[in-house]
Parts: sequence; structure tokens; C-alpha cells
Amino acid sequence: MKKIIIIGATSGIGREMAKIYAEAGHLVGATGRRQELLYTLQLEYPNNIITHCFDVTADDNIYHLKTLINKLDGLDLLVYNAGYGDVSETVDWEIDKTTVNTNVKGFIEMIDYAFNFFEEQGHGQLATTSSIASVRGNSWAPAYSASKAFQSVYFEGLYMKLRRMKIGIHVTDVQPGFVDTKMAKGNKRFWVAPPVKAATQIVQAIEKKKWRVYITHRWRLIATVIKWMPDFLFHRIG
Ligand SMILES: NC(=O)c1ccc[n+]([C@@H]2O[C@H](COP(=O)([O-])OP(=O)(O)OC[C@H]3O[C@@H](n4cnc5c(N)ncnc54)[C@H](OP(=O)(O)O)[C@@H]3O)[C@@H](O)[C@H]2O)c1
Repeated sequence: MKKIIIIGATSGIGREMAKIYAEAGHLVGATGRRQELLYTLQLEYPNNIITHCFDVTADDNIYHLKTLINKLDGLDLLVYNAGYGDVSETVDWEIDKTTVNTNVKGFIEMIDYAFNFFEEQGHGQLATTSSIASVRGNSWAPAYSASKAFQSVYFEGLYMKLRRMKIGIHVTDVQPGFVDTKMAKGNKRFWVAPPVKAATQIVQAIEKKKWRVYITHRWRLIATVIKWMPDFLFHRIG
């Protein structure tokens, strides 16, 4: 039985991951701001899910993470899945501030704490739900793509660091395309995956200790096309 914390497990991909892990007999610490959704999740799996309600944009993330680790009596895997992003027609600091506080500040506080925790105990796994949006900039939500690039680039750095350290810690950078949740914005959506399918593929990739995974897998094709598209072309469509 693994001890797993999922930051952002009240709805969508994170909630489905919590269910998959709970059904497999693991002990899951599920977080988010919506207490009533945490409550219904715990009611479904009273023996396998422990909940803890907090906002990752506030200043007490480490306190909450330590509390949850104590409640689980240990930690084997931390998934940073909380995310925020919105289309910004104008350059809007209110949108950008929440984006950066959720996707960058909360992310790095908790990933750094868990990395050091795992280094001390000699093993552990970290995963983050980044996005295909991390591959290049885009004009609709510049802060969102930049914040997800931060996550993915940071995880690639950790991955390289860990290879040199030769220690039993593994990282997985998850890059979903469109998944059918309230985060999937825009009217030109395609290849939209149900959250349960996305969660299943993410859990499998973490199990296989993949350093990066595209969700669903065929989004690798889009990521490759976007990455290598010449600037003059990409800047017309991005
Ligand atoms: N859906 C897509 O198409 C798509 C594509 C690429 C990447 N992603 C990424 O996938 C991840 C999961 O998103 P989703 O699609 O499953 O959408 P979702 O259903 O909206 O899930 C977002 C989760 O993040 C939590 N969260 C957001 N802000 C938070 C905050 N300030 N403090 C604590 N928790 C917070 C939410 O919980 P509360 O609201 O209860 O706090 C919720 O559990 C996100 O990181 C998103 O960027 C999604």
C-alpha cells in the first residue's frame, strides 16, 4: 500500500486519480478548496481517502503538506495537480496573479518540500500535471502556457539531477491535451479525453516511472508538430 498525496483532487483528473488509487488499496491524501467535494470523496472511500482542505495560493502550504504527511503517516508519491488558467483577452493581472500563484508558487513550494523529504527517506515519486500548452507560448493565455512551461522545465531539470544523484526518486511530467473538465476552455477543442481515461493513463505512466507522458498518448504528435513548427507559421496560429 502506497501513501499518496494529490494536490487538487476535488474534481476532474485529480479526483479520478484519487479514486483509482483508492480502489487499488492505496492510502490517498486528497486536497482542494471545496470542502463538500472532499467530503463526498471521503464518503466513497472511507478507509482509503483522507482529506485536507486548503488553498495553494495562500502562505501556509508547507504547514498543510506536513500535516497531511503526518495524517498518512508517511509519503511515497506526491502529485501536484492543482491548476488555474483562463483566457485573457487583455493582459489581466488578476488572471495572471492567480495563474502564477497556483501553477508556479504553490507548485514549487510543495515539490521542493517533497523532494527534500524523499531525499532524506531515500525513495519517493513526484508527478505534476503540466500541459501541452507548456510546449510554446500562446496568445490566448500567455501566463498559463508560461506557468506550465515552468513546471515542465523544472521537472526536466529535476529528472537530470536525479539521474546524477543515483537515488530512488522518480519524477513524471504529465502533459495533457484536452480533457473534459472545466479547465478545457476554447471552442476549437479536439481529441477531448474523459477525465477517467486521462487519470488511468497518468497512473500507468507514474507506475512505469516515465519522466514525461502525453495524455492521451496521441498528443505526443501535436507536441512534436508544435515544437518544430517554424516561427513564421506558429506565430500566425498560436
Ligand atoms: N482539462 C484540460 O483540458 C487540461 C489540459 C491540460 C492540463 N490540465 C491540467 O490538469 C490539472 C487538473 O485540471 P482539471 O482539468 O482536472 O480541472 P479541474 O476539475 O478544475 O481540477 C483542478 C483541481 O485543482 C484544484 N485547485 C485549483 N486551484 C486551487 C487552489 N488555489 N488551491 C487548491 N486547489 C486548487 C481544484 O480544487 P478546488 O477548486 O476545490 O480548490 C481541482 O481539484 C490542472 O493543473 C490543469 O492545468 C488540464
